[in-house]
Amino acid sequence: MSNPKRFDNEFENISNPQQEQEGIDEIADITSQLLHKRYPRPDKILRGVHPKSHGCVKARFEINADIPAQYQIGLFSQPARCFDAIIRFSNAAALVRPDIDAQGKHGSRGMAIKVFDVEGEVLYDDDGDKNQDFLMINQPEFAFANIKDYLRLNRILLKNNDDPTAFFTDIEGLQNEDLGRLQRTGALIQKIQQTVIANPLNVSYFGAAPFKFGAGKVMRFCVKPQTPEPSPPDVPQPPADNYLREAVTTTMNEPHDLVFDFCVQVRSDGDDLHIEDASQSWDEQHTPFVCVAKITIPAPQQDVNSIPSWQECEALFFTPWHSLTDHQPLGGINRLRQAVYVASATTRKAKEFNLNLIERILRFFGLK
Ligand code: HEM
Repeated sequence: MSNPKRFDNEFENISNPQQEQEGIDEIADITSQLLHKRYPRPDKILRGVHPKSHGCVKARFEINADIPAQYQIGLFSQPARCFDAIIRFSNAAALVRPDIDAQGKHGSRGMAIKVFDVEGEVLYDDDGDKNQDFLMINQPEFAFANIKDYLRLNRILLKNNDDPTAFFTDIEGLQNEDLGRLQRTGALIQKIQQTVIANPLNVSYFGAAPFKFGAGKVMRFCVKPQTPEPSPPDVPQPPADNYLREAVTTTMNEPHDLVFDFCVQVRSDGDDLHIEDASQSWDEQHTPFVCVAKITIPAPQQDVNSIPSWQECEALFFTPWHSLTDHQPLGGINRLRQAVYVASATTRKAKEFNLNLIERILRFFGLK
């Protein structure tokens, strides 16, 4: 990655830049420490969060031919332009576990899209290529508002072997406003745990944070399936540990293309932007989503969960900072993601490199 862009003068105002940077550095360091603890030698290190994949699929990302002129910004500037893309579906939980836990609780689900070979200035290249990544979860809000709360969570995870319980119980010394956010985080986590999905290919996903939409404008984005899953969702009973991956494999073996709309809410200065609080979404009544592109997943893709596809999926590196400058990530949670995704990806890739090297040396000396 090159050409760092940490914040945007137009929309962001960091109250204490030095303190913020110290918090970001500490979280990036904890991310790497947690990964080494979770995956002792010789285990392969998986992603810091979203380690469990339901599969990667090839896709086309096509700008709508009739996109209104005021939405023709950045990636969306050429009507009818079609890009190749790859999409990874995942569970957000930091550990690879059954899709529904023993208490019947569900988890946050992820969809990450990499749009290849975009045109225009990018914030960071993607191993030399110019790609636009869109990372989403299946809720419009992120459960943590800001860096301060995420730092407290990370210190607790490190101290208590990945157990987050104390985040809600160790509240000594918290101010009233911290407690207000804590309550909101608790409610958002409860909503996630109660959100049932039967198939990652049939649900909506949200960027859950603000991003630029060219000069003077901010967007939040989402992806909606043109054929949503039935309500209530048809979850197999009893659900297998990996029932979401099984649903992806089954669907991708059928000969029906899957189509999603990519939609944006756009606001500008003067509107309530909630730049520094990722736990807030924008009211859809006030600012409706406008669909600007179409994503097609051609089917069948019978190799969706084959070993080569899984290996390709593991090697991918998504970050919201693989982005055109026109869609720069905004707000504290996004500034934090700039360092943490790199920490996670370099930790997992460095170990893979070291293990491969050891393997090659052992083979060279006939010891393996
Ligand atoms: C708006 C909020 C967020 C959304 C929508 C989001 C979404 C995602 C998604 C979908 C992935 C999976 C990417 C893939 O398939 O490879 C991912 C990966 C990841 N996320 Fe987030 N995330 C958010 C916030 C955060 C925050 C606050 C952190 C920590 C500071 C974080 C840390 C990570 C890490 C470490 C990875 C794995 C990176 C790698 O090793 O490649 N995320 N995120």
